[in-house]
Amino acid sequence: DSAGEAAPVRFFDRYPALVTGFFFFMWYFLNVIFNILNKRIYNYFPYPYFVSVIHLLVGVVYCLVSWAVGLPKRAPIDSKLLKLLIPVAVCHALGHVTSNVSFAAVAVSFTHTIKALEPFFNAAASQFILGQQLPLTLWLSLAPVVIGVSMASLTELSFNWTGFISAMISNISFTYRSIYSKKAMTDMDSTNIYAYISIIALFVCIPPAIIVEGPQLIKHGLSDAISKVGMVKFISDLFWVGMFYHLYNQLATNTLERVAPLTHAVGNVLKRVFVIGFSILAFGNKISTQTGIGTVIAIAGVAAYSYIKAQMEEEKRVSIILLYNHH
Ligand code: 3PG
Repeated sequence: DSAGEAAPVRFFDRYPALVTGFFFFMWYFLNVIFNILNKRIYNYFPYPYFVSVIHLLVGVVYCLVSWAVGLPKRAPIDSKLLKLLIPVAVCHALGHVTSNVSFAAVAVSFTHTIKALEPFFNAAASQFILGQQLPLTLWLSLAPVVIGVSMASLTELSFNWTGFISAMISNISFTYRSIYSKKAMTDMDSTNIYAYISIIALFVCIPPAIIVEGPQLIKHGLSDAISKVGMVKFISDLFWVGMFYHLYNQLATNTLERVAPLTHAVGNVLKRVFVIGFSILAFGNKISTQTGIGTVIAIAGVAAYSYIKAQMEEEKRVSIILLYNHH
């Protein structure tokens, strides 16, 4: 055995599935903690625009420190790549703030039930924005998803329109994010890309936070939070929620680099199943029987939809190979 430092690299190469599995596990784990901590903060400090800025700010400071020590080494950016990343980052910022407006307004489990519709929005975008004809069977397989989410929403105890509509807008934003991401494919590694996206998204989020929440924050928001939990807890909560936010998103981006987009989308829905379960346990929020059944139908629907879509893609791949071999 020559160099000891080559060992981890060999391990990564030899067991790619194990490494990918570990990435998924860490992504879910960090996301569950993020969601619980985040909602605890909203319970005493209901300022989602401001907290969204803090999430990104902590992440950006973390990236700047990482670059300073060379872990990872900063990849240089040029104006061409910057132009490609700006729309991705704007959609990331918009989806982020609207998700958080929803988290602050309704139960975490409910926001994630609505966010489980994201693959449906992606399908609609493929057909109506990108003009790719989706087969009818695929559309039909989405029916249980829509029915499930409608059932869940109708009897959701924490329901309000702010929470519902902002989670829907986050679905639209994240669908556009994935459309623009495809155009921004480069050879830069995912950790560096996500660092640049965070920096741009931070600048996008600051003005609306100042306009929407600035006056209330100064008048009583900040002092109320400090008088409720104390300065030390307040600051440490904001720091940790920011760290978990950044790390789960970085892991999500690193995972996307290793798997197909569809696998990633299905993985993201499965992530919501864990978050819904753990958040109900953590907050002890009551859910009605109908909401429970609706959530299960919606999630099963997303699983069925993804399965059908994966099979269609496989068939397409096989027929392309056959065609190619024929000629
Ligand atoms: C956010 O704060 O941006 C939301 O947690 C986004 O949710 P998602 O990454 O689970 O879609």
